[in-house]
Amino acid sequence: MGGKRQLLKDLLCLVPRDIRHYHEPFLGGGALFFALRPSRAHLADSNAELIRTYTAVRDDVEGVIRALQQHRYQRDHYYETRATHPDQLSPNALAARMIYLNRCGYNGLYRVNRQGLFNVPFGRYHNPKICDADNLRRVSLALQGADLTAGDFAATLSAARRDHFVYLDPPYIPVSATASFVAYQQGGFGMDEQEQLARTFEALDQRGVRLMLSNSDVPWVRQRYADYRIHNAVARRPINSRHNGRGPIPELIVTNY
Ligand SMILES: C[S@@+](CC[C@H](N)C(=O)[O-])C[C@H]1O[C@@H](n2cnc3c(N)ncnc32)[C@H](O)[C@@H]1O
Repeated sequence: MGGKRQLLKDLLCLVPRDIRHYHEPFLGGGALFFALRPSRAHLADSNAELIRTYTAVRDDVEGVIRALQQHRYQRDHYYETRATHPDQLSPNALAARMIYLNRCGYNGLYRVNRQGLFNVPFGRYHNPKICDADNLRRVSLALQGADLTAGDFAATLSAARRDHFVYLDPPYIPVSATASFVAYQQGGFGMDEQEQLARTFEALDQRGVRLMLSNSDVPWVRQRYADYRIHNAVARRPINSRHNGRGPIPELIVTNY
């Protein structure tokens, strides 16, 4: 994903040099966290299964690798694994299921239905690498100093203190009227949540927290964050989107420093 890598470059240029405590409340794939590898970090996401997966990788990576090696790239096995309820699994088996479905599901999408169950169809790949053990070990190492919490951004950010650094990468606002909201999660993330996030940004700013936020370049974001610094960033391609081929989405980065 060229767009995402370019955005990461832009983000890295804007990150303060002296981060002592890092927060990322919309963790997802955690691209910036893994690029920075800060020694103390508070990582969170409302997707509890994602957080349980990272926690298992942090605490018992060899166990996760063994569990992942039980999986294979095969349609029936994929649908059987998808049908297993994550709550019935051990922490390592849950993490292996999540990684496996992500590797073998259509387009690497993460999408759940109203019941919160993963519903992405089997993807077509040529011999996908299901278990990248070396990468998982690197991820585990990077996570050793990290607290991992499942929850809404407003709750998990209460731990942010003066001089801490927070990176906010919420689900982006669709650029065109035809683009529908990304169903990252049950309920999704609409304009009410974007507004709540802007208020949280203001409150943290008042507390002396250093903040960086990325979002799509739409008038609402420019107006709502007009009191802060707005940087133009390059476009990134919509990842977890059902509307492929829409082209790159222009992005901007907001900082309060
Ligand atoms: C754009 S992605 C983050 C991408 C990430 N920075 C990366 O590099 O891959 C948004 C993430 O926000 C999470 N999310 C959605 N609504 C949330 C909420 N209300 N509070 C916390 N996390 C939320 C989703 O589960 C998803 O993982």
